[in-house]
Amino acid sequence: MLKKIINGTLLLPDGDSFRAGQADLFIRDGKIAGIGTDLSAAGTANDAAGENRPDEPCEVIDASGQLIMPGLINMHTHAYMTSMRNYADDVDFQEWLFGRITPVEDRLPKEGAYWTSLLACMEMLRTGTTSFVDMHMFHEQSARAADAAGMRAWIGRGLVGDSLYADDNPRFREAMEEMDAWQSDRLHFILSPHAIYTCSLHMLEQVVEESERRHMLRQTHLSESLTEIENCRAQYGGRSPVEVMRDVGFLSDHTILAHCVQLDEKDVSILAESGSSVVTNPASNAKLGNGFAPVTAMRESGINITLGTDGTASNNTLNMFREMGLLSLIHKGICRDSTAAPASFVVSCATTHAARALHEEGRLGVIREGAWADLAFLDLNAVSLFPNNNILSSLCYSANGSEVDSVMVAGEFAFRHGEYPGIDSEKVHFEVQKIVEEYL
Ligand code: NI
Repeated sequence: MLKKIINGTLLLPDGDSFRAGQADLFIRDGKIAGIGTDLSAAGTANDAAGENRPDEPCEVIDASGQLIMPGLINMHTHAYMTSMRNYADDVDFQEWLFGRITPVEDRLPKEGAYWTSLLACMEMLRTGTTSFVDMHMFHEQSARAADAAGMRAWIGRGLVGDSLYADDNPRFREAMEEMDAWQSDRLHFILSPHAIYTCSLHMLEQVVEESERRHMLRQTHLSESLTEIENCRAQYGGRSPVEVMRDVGFLSDHTILAHCVQLDEKDVSILAESGSSVVTNPASNAKLGNGFAPVTAMRESGINITLGTDGTASNNTLNMFREMGLLSLIHKGICRDSTAAPASFVVSCATTHAARALHEEGRLGVIREGAWADLAFLDLNAVSLFPNNNILSSLCYSANGSEVDSVMVAGEFAFRHGEYPGIDSEKVHFEVQKIVEEYL
Protein backbone atom coordinates (compact mmCIF):
# COMPACT_ATOMS: atom_id res chain seq x y z
CA MET A 1 0.00 0.00 0.00
CA LEU A 2 1.26 3.41 -0.99
CA LYS A 3 0.74 6.45 1.22
CA LYS A 4 0.75 9.95 -0.19
CA ILE A 5 1.02 12.89 2.20
CA ILE A 6 -0.17 16.10 0.58
CA ASN A 7 -0.34 19.82 1.42
CA GLY A 8 2.22 19.65 4.24
CA THR A 9 5.37 21.68 4.88
CA LEU A 10 8.42 19.40 5.03
CA LEU A 11 11.55 19.95 7.09
CA LEU A 12 14.11 18.98 4.47
CA PRO A 13 17.90 18.65 4.76
CA ASP A 14 19.97 21.60 3.56
CA GLY A 15 23.71 20.98 3.97
CA ASP A 16 24.37 20.83 7.72
CA SER A 17 21.03 22.46 8.42
CA PHE A 18 17.40 22.27 7.31
CA ARG A 19 14.94 24.19 5.16
CA ALA A 20 11.18 24.21 4.95
CA GLY A 21 9.74 23.05 1.65
CA GLN A 22 6.29 22.48 0.20
CA ALA A 23 6.19 19.04 -1.33
CA ASP A 24 4.30 15.78 -1.30
CA LEU A 25 5.72 12.73 0.35
CA PHE A 26 5.29 9.18 -0.92
CA ILE A 27 5.73 6.26 1.43
CA ARG A 28 6.02 2.64 0.46
CA ASP A 29 7.15 -0.36 2.58
CA GLY A 30 7.82 1.90 5.55
CA LYS A 31 10.25 4.09 3.66
CA ILE A 32 10.13 7.40 1.84
CA ALA A 33 9.69 6.40 -1.80
CA GLY A 34 9.62 9.89 -3.23
CA ILE A 35 9.42 13.60 -2.52
CA GLY A 36 7.93 15.85 -5.13
CA THR A 37 6.15 19.05 -5.90
CA ASP A 38 3.21 19.24 -8.24
CA LEU A 39 2.30 15.67 -7.44
CA SER A 40 -0.75 16.31 -5.27
CA ALA A 41 -3.13 16.94 -8.15
CA ALA A 42 -2.36 14.56 -10.95
CA GLY A 43 0.89 12.83 -10.07
CA THR A 44 1.32 9.32 -8.77
CA ALA A 45 4.08 7.60 -6.84
CA ASN A 46 5.39 6.33 -10.12
CA ASP A 47 6.58 9.84 -10.88
CA ALA A 48 8.58 10.08 -7.72
CA ALA A 49 9.71 6.55 -7.09
CA GLY A 50 10.39 5.76 -10.73
CA GLU A 51 8.38 2.58 -10.59
CA ASN A 52 5.39 1.61 -12.60
CA ARG A 53 2.63 0.25 -10.37
CA PRO A 54 -0.51 1.78 -11.86
CA ASP A 55 -2.92 -0.40 -9.87
CA GLU A 56 -1.28 0.10 -6.49
CA PRO A 57 -3.81 1.30 -3.90
CA CYS A 58 -2.95 4.68 -2.43
CA GLU A 59 -4.00 6.25 0.87
CA VAL A 60 -3.95 10.04 0.77
CA ILE A 61 -3.15 11.88 3.99
CA ASP A 62 -3.90 15.59 4.08
CA ALA A 63 -1.31 17.48 6.14
CA SER A 64 -2.64 21.00 5.52
CA GLY A 65 -1.32 23.42 8.14
CA GLN A 66 1.21 20.89 9.40
CA LEU A 67 4.97 20.68 9.54
CA ILE A 68 6.29 17.21 8.81
CA MET A 69 9.69 16.73 10.39
CA PRO A 70 11.96 13.75 11.00
CA GLY A 71 10.89 11.99 14.21
CA LEU A 72 13.11 12.98 17.13
CA ILE A 73 15.67 10.50 18.45
CA ASN A 74 16.07 10.35 22.22
CA MET A 75 19.63 9.03 22.56
CA HIS A 76 19.62 8.24 26.27
CA THR A 77 16.84 7.13 28.52
CA HIS A 78 15.71 4.50 30.98
CA ALA A 79 12.15 3.83 29.90
CA TYR A 80 11.19 1.70 32.91
CA MET A 81 11.84 4.60 35.28
CA THR A 82 8.55 6.37 34.61
CA SER A 83 7.10 4.93 37.83
CA MET A 84 9.76 7.00 39.64
CA ARG A 85 8.78 10.31 38.04
CA ASN A 86 9.00 13.03 40.73
CA TYR A 87 9.82 10.39 43.33
CA ALA A 88 13.27 11.52 44.51
CA ASP A 89 13.83 15.21 43.82
CA ASP A 90 15.89 17.90 45.50
CA VAL A 91 18.29 15.39 47.08
CA ASP A 92 22.07 15.00 46.73
CA PHE A 93 23.18 13.04 43.61
CA GLN A 94 24.85 10.19 45.51
CA GLU A 95 21.81 9.95 47.80
CA TRP A 96 19.54 10.12 44.73
CA LEU A 97 21.28 7.25 42.97
CA PHE A 98 22.33 4.91 45.77
CA GLY A 99 19.87 5.90 48.53
CA ARG A 100 16.65 6.38 46.59
CA ILE A 101 16.67 5.06 43.01
CA THR A 102 18.73 1.85 43.17
CA PRO A 103 16.76 0.35 46.12
CA VAL A 104 13.47 0.89 44.26
CA GLU A 105 14.94 -0.55 41.05
CA ASP A 106 15.89 -3.68 42.94
CA ARG A 107 12.29 -4.12 44.13
CA LEU A 108 10.52 -3.46 40.84
CA PRO A 109 8.90 -6.54 39.30
CA LYS A 110 9.81 -7.58 35.78
CA GLU A 111 6.24 -7.48 34.47
CA GLY A 112 5.78 -3.99 35.88
CA ALA A 113 8.68 -2.76 33.77
CA TYR A 114 6.61 -3.47 30.68
CA TRP A 115 3.88 -1.07 31.75
CA THR A 116 6.25 1.66 32.93
CA SER A 117 8.17 1.37 29.63
CA LEU A 118 4.94 1.62 27.69
CA LEU A 119 4.08 4.81 29.59
CA ALA A 120 7.50 6.13 28.53
CA CYS A 121 6.70 5.28 24.91
CA MET A 122 3.39 7.15 25.19
CA GLU A 123 5.12 10.28 26.44
CA MET A 124 7.83 10.06 23.78
CA LEU A 125 5.36 9.59 20.93
CA ARG A 126 3.15 12.38 22.29
CA THR A 127 6.12 14.74 22.01
CA GLY A 128 7.38 13.71 18.58
CA THR A 129 10.00 11.08 19.40
CA THR A 130 10.10 8.03 17.12
CA SER A 131 13.35 6.33 18.26
CA PHE A 132 15.04 5.93 21.61
CA VAL A 133 18.19 4.42 23.03
CA ASP A 134 17.44 2.69 26.30
CA MET A 135 19.40 1.29 29.20
CA HIS A 136 17.14 -1.03 31.11
CA MET A 137 16.95 -3.41 34.06
CA PHE A 138 14.62 -5.71 32.15
CA HIS A 139 15.47 -5.02 28.57
CA GLU A 140 13.03 -7.54 27.16
CA GLN A 141 10.20 -5.53 28.72
CA SER A 142 11.52 -2.41 27.01
CA ALA A 143 11.60 -4.32 23.71
CA ARG A 144 8.02 -5.54 24.25
CA ALA A 145 6.88 -1.99 25.01
CA ALA A 146 8.63 -0.41 22.02
CA ASP A 147 7.23 -3.14 19.80
CA ALA A 148 3.67 -2.66 21.10
CA ALA A 149 3.92 1.13 20.85
CA GLY A 150 5.23 0.88 17.28
CA MET A 151 8.48 2.71 18.09
CA ARG A 152 12.05 2.15 16.97
CA ALA A 153 14.55 1.43 19.75
CA TRP A 154 18.11 0.49 20.58
CA ILE A 155 17.92 -1.34 23.87
CA GLY A 156 20.59 -2.45 26.29
CA ARG A 157 20.54 -4.40 29.51
CA GLY A 158 22.37 -2.35 32.16
CA LEU A 159 25.45 -4.43 32.99
CA VAL A 160 27.32 -4.20 36.31
CA GLY A 161 29.94 -6.26 38.14
CA ASP A 162 33.35 -7.87 37.68
CA SER A 163 32.75 -10.23 34.77
CA LEU A 164 30.15 -10.71 32.05
CA TYR A 165 30.38 -14.46 32.52
CA ALA A 166 30.25 -14.83 36.33
CA ASP A 167 27.83 -17.54 37.49
CA ASP A 168 26.24 -15.18 40.01
CA ASN A 169 25.80 -12.41 37.40
CA PRO A 170 23.40 -13.69 34.73
CA ARG A 171 22.57 -10.23 33.27
CA PHE A 172 24.70 -10.60 30.15
CA ARG A 173 23.70 -14.20 29.42
CA GLU A 174 20.00 -13.38 29.89
CA ALA A 175 20.32 -10.29 27.72
CA MET A 176 21.88 -12.23 24.84
CA GLU A 177 19.26 -14.98 25.06
CA GLU A 178 16.40 -12.47 25.07
CA MET A 179 18.00 -10.51 22.26
CA ASP A 180 18.30 -13.55 20.03
CA ALA A 181 14.58 -14.26 20.48
CA TRP A 182 13.55 -10.89 19.02
CA GLN A 183 12.99 -10.35 15.33
CA SER A 184 11.97 -6.86 14.30
CA ASP A 185 13.13 -4.20 11.88
CA ARG A 186 12.46 -1.62 14.56
CA LEU A 187 14.33 -3.18 17.48
CA HIS A 188 18.07 -3.23 17.95
CA PHE A 189 20.20 -4.25 20.88
CA ILE A 190 23.23 -2.51 22.29
CA LEU A 191 25.76 -3.48 24.96
CA SER A 192 25.30 -1.26 27.98
CA PRO A 193 27.77 -1.43 30.86
CA HIS A 194 26.31 0.97 33.42
CA ALA A 195 29.36 3.07 34.37
CA ILE A 196 33.02 3.03 35.27
CA TYR A 197 32.13 2.96 38.97
CA THR A 198 29.82 -0.07 38.72
CA CYS A 199 31.85 -2.20 36.25
CA SER A 200 35.39 -3.55 36.63
CA LEU A 201 37.98 -2.78 33.96
CA HIS A 202 38.10 -6.48 33.22
CA MET A 203 34.38 -6.46 32.50
CA LEU A 204 34.64 -3.36 30.30
CA GLU A 205 37.30 -5.17 28.23
CA GLN A 206 34.93 -8.12 27.88
CA VAL A 207 32.20 -5.75 26.68
CA VAL A 208 34.56 -4.35 24.03
CA GLU A 209 35.40 -7.87 22.82
CA GLU A 210 31.75 -8.95 22.73
CA SER A 211 30.55 -5.82 20.95
CA GLU A 212 33.27 -6.14 18.31
CA ARG A 213 32.66 -9.85 17.80
CA ARG A 214 28.88 -9.29 17.53
CA HIS A 215 29.13 -5.99 15.60
CA MET A 216 27.03 -4.28 18.27
CA LEU A 217 27.11 -0.68 19.41
CA ARG A 218 28.10 -0.05 23.01
CA GLN A 219 26.94 2.68 25.40
CA THR A 220 27.74 3.75 28.93
CA HIS A 221 27.38 6.65 31.37
CA LEU A 222 30.65 8.59 31.50
CA SER A 223 32.07 11.53 33.47
CA GLU A 224 28.70 12.51 34.88
CA SER A 225 29.64 13.91 38.29
CA LEU A 226 32.68 15.39 40.03
CA THR A 227 32.54 12.55 42.54
CA GLU A 228 32.95 10.07 39.68
CA ILE A 229 36.05 11.94 38.45
CA GLU A 230 37.61 12.13 41.93
CA ASN A 231 36.97 8.47 42.73
CA CYS A 232 38.23 7.35 39.33
CA ARG A 233 41.46 9.33 39.62
CA ALA A 234 42.01 7.92 43.12
CA GLN A 235 41.34 4.34 42.04
CA TYR A 236 43.08 4.32 38.64
CA GLY A 237 46.40 6.08 39.11
CA GLY A 238 45.26 9.63 38.47
CA ARG A 239 43.50 8.83 35.19
CA SER A 240 40.20 10.44 34.26
CA PRO A 241 37.22 8.22 33.33
CA VAL A 242 37.79 9.14 29.66
CA GLU A 243 41.45 8.06 29.90
CA VAL A 244 40.49 4.79 31.57
CA MET A 245 37.90 4.09 28.88
CA ARG A 246 40.47 4.84 26.19
CA ASP A 247 42.95 2.47 27.85
CA VAL A 248 40.50 -0.45 27.98
CA GLY A 249 39.67 0.11 24.29
CA PHE A 250 36.08 1.16 24.92
CA LEU A 251 36.16 4.35 22.83
CA SER A 252 35.40 3.93 19.13
CA ASP A 253 33.03 5.07 16.42
CA HIS A 254 30.64 2.39 17.69
CA THR A 255 30.58 3.96 21.15
CA ILE A 256 27.82 6.14 22.62
CA LEU A 257 28.66 8.04 25.80
CA ALA A 258 25.93 9.56 27.94
CA HIS A 259 26.56 12.75 29.94
CA CYS A 260 30.28 13.65 29.48
CA VAL A 261 29.75 16.64 31.78
CA GLN A 262 33.03 16.82 33.68
CA LEU A 263 35.65 16.82 30.93
CA ASP A 264 38.97 18.63 30.74
CA GLU A 265 40.64 19.69 27.48
CA LYS A 266 42.59 16.45 27.25
CA ASP A 267 39.41 14.40 27.64
CA VAL A 268 37.72 16.36 24.84
CA SER A 269 40.60 15.70 22.45
CA ILE A 270 40.69 11.97 23.36
CA LEU A 271 36.96 11.70 22.66
CA ALA A 272 37.28 13.59 19.37
CA GLU A 273 40.12 11.35 18.21
CA SER A 274 38.21 8.18 19.11
CA GLY A 275 35.17 8.97 16.95
CA SER A 276 32.83 8.25 19.89
CA SER A 277 29.46 9.97 19.97
CA VAL A 278 28.35 11.91 23.04
CA VAL A 279 24.79 12.21 24.36
CA THR A 280 24.27 15.40 26.25
CA ASN A 281 21.44 15.43 28.81
CA PRO A 282 21.10 19.07 29.86
CA ALA A 283 18.02 18.73 32.08
CA SER A 284 19.25 15.70 34.01
CA ASN A 285 22.76 17.11 34.47
CA ALA A 286 21.45 20.43 35.72
CA LYS A 287 18.73 18.93 37.90
CA LEU A 288 21.09 16.51 39.66
CA GLY A 289 23.55 19.34 40.26
CA ASN A 290 26.22 17.81 38.03
CA GLY A 291 26.80 20.87 35.89
CA PHE A 292 26.88 21.58 32.17
CA ALA A 293 28.67 19.54 29.52
CA PRO A 294 31.31 21.48 27.52
CA VAL A 295 29.12 21.33 24.43
CA THR A 296 30.78 24.23 22.62
CA ALA A 297 34.29 22.80 23.12
CA MET A 298 33.12 19.34 22.06
CA ARG A 299 31.42 20.78 19.01
CA GLU A 300 34.53 22.73 18.00
CA SER A 301 36.64 19.58 18.34
CA GLY A 302 34.37 17.74 15.88
CA ILE A 303 32.75 15.32 18.36
CA ASN A 304 29.36 14.03 17.17
CA ILE A 305 26.96 15.45 19.77
CA THR A 306 23.49 13.97 20.24
CA LEU A 307 20.71 14.66 22.72
CA GLY A 308 18.86 12.60 25.33
CA THR A 309 16.47 13.14 28.20
CA ASP A 310 17.84 10.48 30.59
CA GLY A 311 15.16 8.75 32.67
CA THR A 312 12.11 10.35 34.24
CA ALA A 313 13.61 9.95 37.72
CA SER A 314 16.18 12.62 36.86
CA ASN A 315 14.58 14.92 34.28
CA ASN A 316 11.55 14.45 34.94
CA THR A 317 10.12 14.26 31.47
CA LEU A 318 10.97 12.52 28.17
CA ASN A 319 10.03 15.56 26.12
CA MET A 320 12.76 16.20 23.54
CA PHE A 321 11.36 19.64 22.68
CA ARG A 322 12.06 20.83 26.21
CA GLU A 323 15.50 19.22 25.98
CA MET A 324 16.27 21.02 22.70
CA GLY A 325 15.28 24.37 24.21
CA LEU A 326 17.41 23.77 27.29
CA LEU A 327 20.42 22.67 25.25
CA SER A 328 20.46 25.94 23.39
CA LEU A 329 19.55 28.26 26.27
CA ILE A 330 21.95 26.71 28.78
CA HIS A 331 24.94 26.99 26.47
CA LYS A 332 24.12 30.50 25.31
CA GLY A 333 23.94 31.42 28.99
CA ILE A 334 27.09 29.76 30.27
CA CYS A 335 29.14 30.79 27.23
CA ARG A 336 27.73 34.35 27.43
CA ASP A 337 27.35 34.00 23.69
CA SER A 338 23.97 34.25 21.99
CA THR A 339 25.36 32.45 18.94
CA ALA A 340 26.29 29.30 20.94
CA ALA A 341 24.26 26.12 20.29
CA PRO A 342 22.13 27.60 17.49
CA ALA A 343 18.79 26.07 16.50
CA SER A 344 20.19 24.28 13.43
CA PHE A 345 22.77 22.51 15.61
CA VAL A 346 20.20 21.63 18.28
CA VAL A 347 17.72 20.12 15.82
CA SER A 348 20.61 18.21 14.20
CA CYS A 349 21.59 16.77 17.60
CA ALA A 350 18.08 15.30 17.92
CA THR A 351 17.95 13.96 14.35
CA THR A 352 20.92 13.62 11.96
CA HIS A 353 23.67 13.47 14.59
CA ALA A 354 21.74 10.73 16.39
CA ALA A 355 21.45 8.79 13.15
CA ARG A 356 25.20 9.08 12.67
CA ALA A 357 25.84 7.75 16.19
CA LEU A 358 23.57 4.79 15.44
CA HIS A 359 25.24 4.16 12.07
CA GLU A 360 21.92 4.92 10.35
CA GLU A 361 23.01 8.08 8.55
CA GLY A 362 20.72 8.81 5.60
CA ARG A 363 18.21 6.21 6.78
CA LEU A 364 17.03 7.89 9.97
CA GLY A 365 16.55 11.43 11.24
CA VAL A 366 16.11 12.85 7.76
CA ILE A 367 13.40 13.30 5.14
CA ARG A 368 14.91 11.97 1.93
CA GLU A 369 14.23 9.19 -0.51
CA GLY A 370 15.15 5.81 0.90
CA ALA A 371 15.00 6.88 4.55
CA TRP A 372 12.57 5.30 7.01
CA ALA A 373 9.27 7.17 7.14
CA ASP A 374 9.71 8.08 10.82
CA LEU A 375 7.91 11.41 11.00
CA ALA A 376 6.35 13.88 13.42
CA PHE A 377 3.42 16.04 12.27
CA LEU A 378 3.18 19.40 14.07
CA ASP A 379 0.32 21.89 13.98
CA LEU A 380 1.84 25.08 12.53
CA ASN A 381 -1.19 27.06 13.65
CA ALA A 382 -0.68 26.15 17.32
CA VAL A 383 -0.54 29.31 19.44
CA SER A 384 3.01 28.46 20.51
CA LEU A 385 4.30 28.29 16.90
CA PHE A 386 2.27 30.92 15.06
CA PRO A 387 3.31 32.95 13.08
CA ASN A 388 5.86 30.71 11.37
CA ASN A 389 8.65 33.22 10.84
CA ASN A 390 11.44 30.68 11.25
CA ILE A 391 10.73 26.96 11.41
CA LEU A 392 14.00 25.97 13.10
CA SER A 393 13.57 28.65 15.77
CA SER A 394 10.01 27.43 16.26
CA LEU A 395 11.25 23.92 16.99
CA CYS A 396 14.13 24.95 19.24
CA TYR A 397 12.76 27.96 21.13
CA SER A 398 8.96 27.93 20.90
CA ALA A 399 7.68 24.37 20.67
CA ASN A 400 6.76 22.57 23.88
CA GLY A 401 5.70 19.26 22.33
CA SER A 402 1.96 19.91 22.57
CA GLU A 403 2.01 20.92 18.89
CA VAL A 404 2.57 17.29 17.87
CA ASP A 405 -0.61 16.03 16.23
CA SER A 406 0.56 12.68 14.88
CA VAL A 407 3.66 10.50 14.71
CA MET A 408 4.53 7.86 12.15
CA VAL A 409 7.16 5.14 12.48
CA ALA A 410 8.13 3.14 9.39
CA GLY A 411 5.12 4.58 7.59
CA GLU A 412 2.57 3.54 10.24
CA PHE A 413 0.89 5.93 12.66
CA ALA A 414 1.96 5.16 16.22
CA PHE A 415 0.20 8.33 17.46
CA ARG A 416 -2.71 9.83 15.55
CA HIS A 417 -4.68 12.93 16.58
CA GLY A 418 -4.02 12.24 20.27
CA GLU A 419 -4.68 8.48 20.17
CA TYR A 420 -2.31 5.51 20.30
CA PRO A 421 -3.35 2.79 17.84
CA GLY A 422 -1.09 0.18 19.52
CA ILE A 423 -1.68 1.03 23.17
CA ASP A 424 -4.56 0.69 25.62
CA SER A 425 -3.72 3.88 27.51
CA GLU A 426 -6.26 3.35 30.30
CA LYS A 427 -4.73 -0.03 31.06
CA VAL A 428 -1.25 1.55 31.15
CA HIS A 429 -2.40 4.17 33.67
CA PHE A 430 -4.04 1.51 35.82
CA GLU A 431 -1.00 -0.80 35.83
CA VAL A 432 1.53 1.97 36.50
CA GLN A 433 -0.55 3.34 39.37
CA LYS A 434 -0.66 -0.18 40.83
CA ILE A 435 3.14 -0.42 40.69
CA VAL A 436 3.52 2.94 42.40
CA GLU A 437 1.21 1.86 45.22
CA GLU A 438 2.88 -1.52 45.68
CA TYR A 439 6.58 -0.72 45.30
CA LEU A 440 7.37 2.93 45.91
NI1 NI B 1 21.22 7.41 32.41
